[in-house]
Amino acid sequence: MNFYDSDRMTDLLKPHGYQLGENEDNADLIVLNTCHIREKAVEKTYSELGRIRDKINARLINTGKRSIVAVAGCVAQAQGKEIMKRSPWVDIVVGPQSFQNLPELIAKVDPSNKNKNIDIDFPTIPKFDNLDTNIENRGPSAFLTIQEGCDKFCTFCVVPYTRGAEYSRPVISILDEAKKLIDVGVKEITLLGQNVNAWSATGLDQKNWGLGRLIEELAKINEIQFIRYTTSHPLDMDLELIKAHRDIKKLMPYLHLPIQSGSDKILRLMNRKHTSKEYLRIIEKVRYHNPHIAISGDFIVGFPGETKQDHHLTLNLIKEINYSQAYSFKYSKRPGTPGSTLLDHVCKDIKDTRLHEVQELLRSQQLSFNRKTINSLIKVLVLKKGKKKNQYLARSPFNQSIYFNTKEKNLIGSTVNLNVTEAFQNSLAGNIVSNIN
Ligand code: 5AD
Ligand code: SF4
Repeated sequence: MNFYDSDRMTDLLKPHGYQLGENEDNADLIVLNTCHIREKAVEKTYSELGRIRDKINARLINTGKRSIVAVAGCVAQAQGKEIMKRSPWVDIVVGPQSFQNLPELIAKVDPSNKNKNIDIDFPTIPKFDNLDTNIENRGPSAFLTIQEGCDKFCTFCVVPYTRGAEYSRPVISILDEAKKLIDVGVKEITLLGQNVNAWSATGLDQKNWGLGRLIEELAKINEIQFIRYTTSHPLDMDLELIKAHRDIKKLMPYLHLPIQSGSDKILRLMNRKHTSKEYLRIIEKVRYHNPHIAISGDFIVGFPGETKQDHHLTLNLIKEINYSQAYSFKYSKRPGTPGSTLLDHVCKDIKDTRLHEVQELLRSQQLSFNRKTINSLIKVLVLKKGKKKNQYLARSPFNQSIYFNTKEKNLIGSTVNLNVTEAFQNSLAGNIVSNIN
């Protein structure tokens, strides 16, 4: 989502004379877009700000030009004043719900750096209504935010506090942005939301639409050839969306559905509002309608109160699901969340061991999933050049990176058929069989 927000900020600033630079060395404006989800991400903000201070000081000495520094994103939202105190060279702090105000905030920057601009409001007029800018340079694949915020309040998570309440973008606004994206050559759209499948809005027929129906509408647009979405919550996985994976060929067979833990006791403490059985039943239903779908997820190890038994329940659940790939994290205490008041913390060494066990299991499942795709024929969109000569990169329907070689020029944005020839831990290799367009 931060990648998407950064692109939108770039679009927004273009009419004000800014364009994307290659690095910070000679930038008039540096926007650091930040993530608050885990402690590590927050630490990164402050170390990046230290690096930025050195860059802007060097520029001032060498050229006499002063750079404007803005901190955006969820760390800005959560720690606005602290950022200004700890890093006085920052001029602007702007939250994820108010970055549409960046041009005004830049115009108000005080060259003496005394008066600070902080905008961390949750405006009553949704930001998308003010983001009616042109869209440029997305490449063949683009993100499109359709939903933001969260009302689920998992006890470990800062999202409800930094991104605010659940908000579903209106259909017209989504279709309008999709049209702008195809006008700049986009052929694959990834719909985004913290709870993307909680999206619901009044449809073109005045009926209430859910994500499955929205995907059906987007699939009618000829130029859009591939559709993906992320991230989903088990509670919002309705039958219409599940059936979309059976009926809509443009919808890729990949579902990222986090459960976080395999223990019902921990799920309760996390306020996940579902049990492990309910999650398994959803996956069963999804696989019934599309047996080849790749399942992904997120796991947190070492949540307060997690015992060895709870950890084993997580490992067992992973074995039962058999993921194509999944993300896992050590629990990180987030200030202001209900989880941060829980006692009974798991010590660092145990967290490390548990994370290692979860990751080893997930890695072995990923490798065998990747190996199973060898010798299959897949239709893919060519995304960009690879690092090696004559090499291109695409993404498989199951969200795997796939590399292939060809002497053909200008294949980026084309659709090709590939035969999968080799499988590695994190990627595939293939041969081109035919160009489709
Ligand atoms: N500690 C560790 N992992 C977390 N996540 C969210 N909050 C925390 C936290 N406090 C993970 C969850 C979520 C993903 C985006 O980040 O697994 O699904
Ligand atoms: Fe955070 Fe996702 Fe839980 Fe919402 S559903 S609180 S975004 S982990």
